[in-house]
Amino acid sequence: MVIRSKELCRRVLENQHKLIQFLQMRLCSNQKIQELAKYEEDDFPRTISSSIKYAVQPQPNQIQHQQDVGQQFKYSDISVRLAGPHQLQPKPDVDDLAFGKYFTDHMLKIQYHRRLGGWLKPEITPFENLVLHPAAKVFHYAVELFEGIKAYRGVDGRIRVFRPEMNMARMNLTAYRSGLPTFDAEEMVKSMARLISIDSEWVPHTESASLYIRPTLIGIEPTLGVASSESALMYTILSPVGPYFKPGHKGGLTLYADPKYVRAWPGGCGDRKMGSNYAPTIHVQKEAQAHGCHQVLWLYGEDHQLTEVGVMNIFMVYVNEDGVKELITPPLNGLILPGITRDSIIQLAKELGDVRVREDVITMPMVKKLLQKGRLLELFGSGTAAVISPIERIHYLGEQLHIPTLEQEDSLSKYLLKTLTDIQYGKLDHPWAYVID
Ligand SMILES: Cc1ncc(COP(=O)(O)O)c(C=O)c1O
Repeated sequence: MVIRSKELCRRVLENQHKLIQFLQMRLCSNQKIQELAKYEEDDFPRTISSSIKYAVQPQPNQIQHQQDVGQQFKYSDISVRLAGPHQLQPKPDVDDLAFGKYFTDHMLKIQYHRRLGGWLKPEITPFENLVLHPAAKVFHYAVELFEGIKAYRGVDGRIRVFRPEMNMARMNLTAYRSGLPTFDAEEMVKSMARLISIDSEWVPHTESASLYIRPTLIGIEPTLGVASSESALMYTILSPVGPYFKPGHKGGLTLYADPKYVRAWPGGCGDRKMGSNYAPTIHVQKEAQAHGCHQVLWLYGEDHQLTEVGVMNIFMVYVNEDGVKELITPPLNGLILPGITRDSIIQLAKELGDVRVREDVITMPMVKKLLQKGRLLELFGSGTAAVISPIERIHYLGEQLHIPTLEQEDSLSKYLLKTLTDIQYGKLDHPWAYVID
């Protein structure tokens, strides 16, 4: 008996590492289950119509605010301080417009301070520098997010903004994910509209240019803790911009696809428009240019899924197994930004009726196979900047893949581009155009 218990002790001592491993595994799986459960609960803000995780297009009027956000700001409280004659800037020549080079005379600012009860009154001021504490969280932990919207001078002279309520819905989702205060989207749209009407002469009088609107939200609390910012500043600046492609530009986009770089991953923030998603792409964009390409084609996973093109969503037109023309774009699975142009294209193509529309994964092996069989018709990027950008070539693992987008007679991307720009420049009456009088 004595010998037996000695033997038992020896065996326990010999195998104690296995026991520890076993206990750790159980602990770990319990923790994982708890974490997942917490994550499910924290999947905020949901859209009311859909409970599918990630598969959520930001929807206006469906934002749930954080409980402790405090008071909301109101457009009716806005104050305006106009720039003096000496502060007004000369308007640049339309041919000289580059992206984000010139700014208008005024800006919109709204401060948030939790200790003062929430959002303060919106104010329009002359365009000016910001004065911030060096410890402000935006400088250390990139507590920052932004949006990109455009205002167009219609053929009737009226100014139209394209679906701004969608951008504000997306901005609120990003604010929540960044620990920044959410806000009333409708009041923000009205405040921005007032800014645009004050600087309305900056909206170019041509169909080849527009006014870019850049709403921005930053954490300004002057403390170094990695925590949500108790103070924030939301501001909007305006910049007249020319055509994305210079006049005379021929051909489509050339893309550099290197699977060693990943833009977004499941559970990350790739589906939110925060500044910290963009800084890490700059080096890769330089590499694309060094390979003679315009943009990066972002791939994900072992099957090399196509996710985004530079800062655009991606679409493919192809003939499916049944000989039917299909428009396909990656789903909102957390790896891509829910683009407003993407959503508009899906809706317009569905209304068109003679093409099937599908949100599904596209992989590089699929692209190569369809090209070999002559069934890939078009590939294009979509976004506010260029609306629709046809793709002509992909540099992928040492191969140059020619994409016949520009060779299609009955081009879907051309039709979509024309319809969208007709809405934006007021040639087509449409509820997506928010008119500023
Ligand atoms: C990463 C990324 N993907 C896609 C888009 C296109 O989105 P939208 O159509 O709303 O401009 C943008 C631009 O906002 C972007 O930054």
